[in-house]
Amino acid sequence: MIAATLAEPDDFEGWRELARGLVGRGCAPDDVAWSDAGEGTGDLFGVADTEGRPVVSMRPVRASRGFLDLARSVILHRDPQRLALLYRVLWRLQRQPHLLDDAADRDVLALHGLARQVRRDIHKMRAFVRFRSAQDCDGSERMIAWFEPDHRIERANADFFVRRFANERWSILTPRLSLHWDGAGLFESPPANRSDLPSDDLTEELWLAYYRSIFNPARLKVGAMLKEMPRKYWKNLPEASMIAQLVAGAQQREAAMIDTGKTLFDEPVPGSLAEIGKAVSGCTRCAIGCNGTRAVMGEGPPQARLMIVGEQPGDSEEIAGRPFVGPAGQLLDRHLREAGIDRDAAYVTNAVKHFKYEPRGKRRLHQTPTAGEIDICRWWLDGERAIVAPRVILALGASAARGLLGRTPAIGRERGRAIPQPDGTQLWITVHPSYLLRLDGDAQAREERRFAEDLAGLAALLDVAVSGRSGVM
Ligand code: URA
Repeated sequence: MIAATLAEPDDFEGWRELARGLVGRGCAPDDVAWSDAGEGTGDLFGVADTEGRPVVSMRPVRASRGFLDLARSVILHRDPQRLALLYRVLWRLQRQPHLLDDAADRDVLALHGLARQVRRDIHKMRAFVRFRSAQDCDGSERMIAWFEPDHRIERANADFFVRRFANERWSILTPRLSLHWDGAGLFESPPANRSDLPSDDLTEELWLAYYRSIFNPARLKVGAMLKEMPRKYWKNLPEASMIAQLVAGAQQREAAMIDTGKTLFDEPVPGSLAEIGKAVSGCTRCAIGCNGTRAVMGEGPPQARLMIVGEQPGDSEEIAGRPFVGPAGQLLDRHLREAGIDRDAAYVTNAVKHFKYEPRGKRRLHQTPTAGEIDICRWWLDGERAIVAPRVILALGASAARGLLGRTPAIGRERGRAIPQPDGTQLWITVHPSYLLRLDGDAQAREERRFAEDLAGLAALLDVAVSGRSGVM
């Protein structure tokens, strides 16, 4: 029997070197006893036969890049059998170079299973490390976090934190080792205890306030949340102490939000359209706000009877800084004219204020905002709605309707009729003009006719709403 011992349990290069030597010498998997440092019977780090003679590689050893990538992850797993499994697969690969393509093979399955668990642990560490602020002995600030990974992923994950927090000084303490970054180099120190973490600080207060504000009761799915954020991580997450309370209050908050048309943020709404315009231009509440495009604020008379809401500015709108000036806007203008609705008398805006796009060469291709992004931007739309206080609101498409209703309606069922709102407005839903632009032939003609009918119905509703007559709709 040959004893093969790794100096460090996550030492991939060490394992690779030993395994290459063993396969080269023709040592069959059953003849090798693998162990991590401190666990094995051998006292040498490396490979020796029972007489202590080093094992020297005699023949070339083959391993695909795919196997080496898998092995790099698997070695980080805590399963003591992983080293023997890796070696067995490497051994078999010499005769079966396509072994990894056999998804039903037990060793291959086991390898993928371990790699998956390691990848998940890496992802969880990236998601759940929470820093507290502390002072170094020289008075400078250092962020310190405590984390308990399932596997030996600390070193493998260090690069991620170095890149993410390159300009900060930070330490991540774990039960196996501690990592420290001083802005220039990465250092290790011995294991730590949770009690080494400094006590709660202002950073944590801010984080809790942020978490409270982004917690969206309308989107709460407890099962999905537990899957993403398993309970075992809760003890080290400051926000976990609030989860039970937030979940318990979620249904009431959702009902209240729908009743009052309120948004996710508990701040006062800016008092004027100009203030909203100023504030929205610096909004970074979601990823679209951070994409470097300019925000496009609504425009039109501040006391308009009709508010028209689209999805988000497109390429032309972002360039012009005005809503609905591109091809969809031109089609909308034509239909409004034909329906006898004066666009200049309406307040025209969008559910999302920044242009979400995907770069394609020199072009910027429209991307649909997610429900979460629309919900976040609802803050601004609600502000405009409260200030303009229109009698009637036209929602163009599902994103606009979600921004106004807080839920995504089935357009086919809800279009073309007045839907009374808790704030006294009448909501009128139809399709987005871009949808008509994407159609052609008969389908386009048919859908344009329906769009024209919807706008004719809206014109009638406006007559009633503005003149105060009632009962027609
Ligand atoms: N589409 C929209 O929804 N809004 C615009 O402003 C332009 C195109």
